[in-house]
Amino acid sequence: MLSGGKGTRLRPLTFTLAKQLIPVANKPILGYVLDQVAETGIKEVGVIIAPETGQYVKEYVQDGSRWGFHVTYISQEPLGLAHAVKTARGFLGRDDFVMCLGDNLQGKGIAPLVEKFSGEALDALILLKEVEDPSKFGVAVLDSKGNIVRLVEKPKTPVSNLAIVGTYLFTAKVHEAIERIKPSWRGELEITDAIQEMVNQGCRVKAEILDTWWLDTGKKDDILAANAKILDEYIKCEVKGEVVNSTVEGRVTVEKGAKIVNSSIRGPAVIGENCLIENSFIGPYTSIGNNTQIADSNIEYCVIMENTLIKGVERLEESLIGKNAKVTKNSRKNTIKLHIGDYSEVEV
Ligand code: DAU
Repeated sequence: MLSGGKGTRLRPLTFTLAKQLIPVANKPILGYVLDQVAETGIKEVGVIIAPETGQYVKEYVQDGSRWGFHVTYISQEPLGLAHAVKTARGFLGRDDFVMCLGDNLQGKGIAPLVEKFSGEALDALILLKEVEDPSKFGVAVLDSKGNIVRLVEKPKTPVSNLAIVGTYLFTAKVHEAIERIKPSWRGELEITDAIQEMVNQGCRVKAEILDTWWLDTGKKDDILAANAKILDEYIKCEVKGEVVNSTVEGRVTVEKGAKIVNSSIRGPAVIGENCLIENSFIGPYTSIGNNTQIADSNIEYCVIMENTLIKGVERLEESLIGKNAKVTKNSRKNTIKLHIGDYSEVEV
């Protein structure tokens, strides 16, 4: 389970959190990926962590017993996906394994892939998905029979619109392939190159096309899209908190201890534990983390993390707000006062 990396595109959140832990529908992305691994019956899980953010991953995953796992943490400098496999070689031994990217969400479980991989005695099985902008991903070129001919990481000129999704299955033959590859132009040991090497060596490498949604949550807009998707798929109508003089429409979860006063909530949305929402409108596709206070504001299509205060904000949309943040209206007209961290982005 790859939970390392740098998460530079999600700064400043990733200064104090691993990017795989950013919540969607109030649950870390990594949690959904681990749920899908648990469905396969896999019990031994090696979690790759980065030196800077590994502690946060450990705090969340702990010993993995929540998923029925036995977890081993493997610290890795982020030098590429194949480098992560290389670093985990002692843990993996000669076993077959599944490699998942802890920041990739997909609408379908991975258990059928594990069955196909062992049933057909493959050396590698990868998942592909048609995308509009292949230059952001690793891509695969297939022949007319669906065999993989070529794999290219982040192609500058389009060679295929089939992106490599972040779920890979391998036999131990991948280790020999990794020994033979060199770092790419971006200085990383690419798993795409290792798979190409396996194809060149005549290994049994197959691809399956994913017939459901897939999101790689590398940037703010991806997180918001993932939040919307997960709210659509998972959120139930469930009001455990208190609703006073307010309307709650559509699929909305209001967690225990939360209080909604003189407000309107339109789902799909989730309001975390012990939140206080007063004189506000919370619109569709919004997740509000625990212990957050929202007053006199209108919010839609946002991910607001824990312990945050939002007050007097006329309209807040398409925003990702970290823990313990404060967004409030100041009394002087046409004046913006900011106290924001490094690499923050503000659109006014
Ligand atoms: O999302 C799918 C794409 O993931 C594939 O299409 C590409 O072929 C593959 O190279 C990868 O590309 P990205 O550039 O998006 O990978 P990223 O750096 O975001 O890393 C993916 C995950 O793996 C992320 O959760 C961080 C983790 N990671 C990354 C590196 C480079 C590690 O744990 N260690 C690392 O060294």
